[in-house]
Amino acid sequence: MPWTMADSPDQSGRIALITGANSGLGLETARALASRGATVVLACRSRRRGEEARAELLPAAAAGLEVLELDLADLASVRAGAHWVRENYGRLDLLVNNAGVMAPPRMLTRDGFELQFGTNHLGHVALTAALLPLMEGRSDARVVTVTSGAQYFGRIAFDDLQSERRYDRWAAYSQSKLANVAFALELQQRLAAAGSTVASLAAHPGLARTNLQPASVAAANSKLEGLAYRLMDPLFQSAAMGALPQLYAATAPEARGGEHYGPDQWGGMRGWPTQVRIAPAALDPQIRRRLWEVSEQLVGQAVPAQAP
Ligand SMILES: NC(=O)c1ccc[n+]([C@@H]2O[C@H](COP(=O)([O-])OP(=O)(O)OC[C@H]3O[C@@H](n4cnc5c(N)ncnc54)[C@H](OP(=O)(O)O)[C@@H]3O)[C@@H](O)[C@H]2O)c1
Repeated sequence: MPWTMADSPDQSGRIALITGANSGLGLETARALASRGATVVLACRSRRRGEEARAELLPAAAAGLEVLELDLADLASVRAGAHWVRENYGRLDLLVNNAGVMAPPRMLTRDGFELQFGTNHLGHVALTAALLPLMEGRSDARVVTVTSGAQYFGRIAFDDLQSERRYDRWAAYSQSKLANVAFALELQQRLAAAGSTVASLAAHPGLARTNLQPASVAAANSKLEGLAYRLMDPLFQSAAMGALPQLYAATAPEARGGEHYGPDQWGGMRGWPTQVRIAPAALDPQIRRRLWEVSEQLVGQAVPAQAP
């Protein structure tokens, strides 16, 4: 039987924070968790778009629903957001590292990182580092990091992490998504070694109809890519279906730290949540450790999880 959100346990009493919760998979994740009773913090870079999402979700929300303005492309904003969570809730049960940008022309974050590596990976590393202390000791606390099938094409270019020498917008996206899953696995290993109550899991949606592709086409101003997406449209599943693997990772009692979920059909492009293969580079302990260390240096913050 396919897993749906109806199979998830009641989320009452749990506090969840979702990045990029105003659109696509983040919005569907927020909708599902809120309707199952979780208090949900919608972490969005635009307060206006966050408030619009909140207004849409409110009728189905069983508990609290709040907007937090948080820009992952700005470490000061990430830290301020984590501070707000600490001050306002003092605890957190679920962090969904969901937000992402895909294949724009080369741009930089406020801190000078290549936009995709900086937003998709480093911003989430900094957020996780700042929020983990609020999760420690909570029963069944989880960090879910959203990756992509692009991880299978990714390579961590340690000699040019910010694509300063050569920028290929798709290689940079794949690098950031490989970094997502490598970070999720390393985090799990370190949390387990420390005997933490927090588990780290990864998920990818397959191909889901969201704003990711239109935003990418607009940023790159590529008519050809626009046409390609129109032709591929029948392959795409809804955002609600695409969100199921991350919801499974976030709520299913049988989901385990260190596991990676994605759709079960068409080579992981669509379908129901199942455990799926992990890119070999993310299974390499040396790559993982090196990425962890350089990420901590770049964000200027240690992730409070013990080395194995
Ligand atoms: N859709 C797919 O087929 C697919 C496939 C593989 C992986 N994914 C992954 O799924 C995740 C969610 O993407 P989606 O498909 O739901 O796309 P989406 O509809 O474009 O949503 C992306 C979200 O990320 C937010 N975001 C972008 N930059 C941000 C920043 N600097 N700070 C905070 N939030 C930021 C966006 O905010 P704004 O609305 O303000 O731009 C939006 O809320 C991404 O990590 C993506 O890599 C998606």
